[in-house]
Amino acid sequence: MNKKELTKKYGSPIYIIHESVLKNNFSRLKSSLNKNYLKYQIAYAYKANPNFAICKIFDKLGAIPEVVGDFEYDLAKKVSKNKRIILNGPYKPRILEAINRGNCIINLDNFSEIEKIKDKKIKKDTLIGLRVNADSKNLAKNHFGFGRYDNSLEQAIKRLKNKKIKISGIHLHIGTNISDINYYNNLLSLVEEVTRLFYKHNLSLKFIDIGGGFPSRSASPINFKKWEWNPPEIEEIIKKISMGLKNIFDNSNLPLLILEPGRYLVDDSASLLSTIVANKKVFGVNSLILDAGIGIFPINRNYNLGSSKSKESFDLYGPTCMPQDLIASSQKLKECNPGDVIEFKGCGAYGDSLSIQFSFYRPPHVLIKINGQEKVIKRKERLKDILRN
Ligand SMILES: Cc1ncc(COP(=O)(O)O)c(C=O)c1O
Repeated sequence: MNKKELTKKYGSPIYIIHESVLKNNFSRLKSSLNKNYLKYQIAYAYKANPNFAICKIFDKLGAIPEVVGDFEYDLAKKVSKNKRIILNGPYKPRILEAINRGNCIINLDNFSEIEKIKDKKIKKDTLIGLRVNADSKNLAKNHFGFGRYDNSLEQAIKRLKNKKIKISGIHLHIGTNISDINYYNNLLSLVEEVTRLFYKHNLSLKFIDIGGGFPSRSASPINFKKWEWNPPEIEEIIKKISMGLKNIFDNSNLPLLILEPGRYLVDDSASLLSTIVANKKVFGVNSLILDAGIGIFPINRNYNLGSSKSKESFDLYGPTCMPQDLIASSQKLKECNPGDVIEFKGCGAYGDSLSIQFSFYRPPHVLIKINGQEKVIKRKERLKDILRN
């Protein structure tokens, strides 16, 4: 079915997600790990796209859920039933439930969390980790985890040791859409320094969770020109990280490497199809009004709309009343009339999950299965979804 037929059948705008791309992304990551670092666990970062069917696909492929917040935790229990769940983030509303459930990896972020769990019985199958603040000078500053800069990491280690709570690992996450392979040197140095601190306290690391951040090739971030966007392939990244870890740790005693990709797995699997609803001149510039805009598009992207031989170029606006609802400028398009459908590739990550309710219903999601069949995996929002209480 072509894009016009798809919008006719299911409505516009609409997300079209390709199962083959999801599976291919996963298998590339998995085979690079198999080649370079056998002791690993892939977790899917639900925040990138928490659609139930997508989470289920990764579950079947062997990924465990990585969740932040109550909604993602509840979803993970439905998707993955008895499997291990990773809980991250500075506020974990289900932390005590997870302690009761067992079979979780809980990466503690702050002393209030330590207080909450310090007198609880931690089941054998639950692993406690510490989120390490990325406080190296070359890494972007953030407010997550325990730092070395204020000694809070060492204090957290001592407090947990005092309470006889075993610390099994560390958790780091140094950014998203990381396009410079050398940036991972900062991650590796951080791991090395923190490992030394753990050794000082007679602790060894059972796992190292390096978070996500692997780039998607589909849509360049807004601070890059389209032609400048050439991030490393996943194979190169995994090789670099694996070699780095093997230099830090004894080969016979490698920690379990946990990865939490979100964007890399889902971004290029989905396109957003949007219909032109009007054309007009805005201060003399050819402009098109679309039925998808600021509320649902993943933010801060340059969309690669391809080039056509058309001499005319267009600015593309969304349907809301916000002046900043400008999706793309100066696009040479062959679709330029009301009723024409435009495909925006690379909308699988942080689109729906970051979307806002802003004057319009959220769009449906249709999965194109490997056998070519279409399946509605999220129907278009309805008034009753909004009015429910
Ligand atoms: C702790 C953690 N893990 C994983 C991810 C997923 O990152 P990405 O989508 O860049 O792979 C994030 C994103 O913010 C995160 O904060």
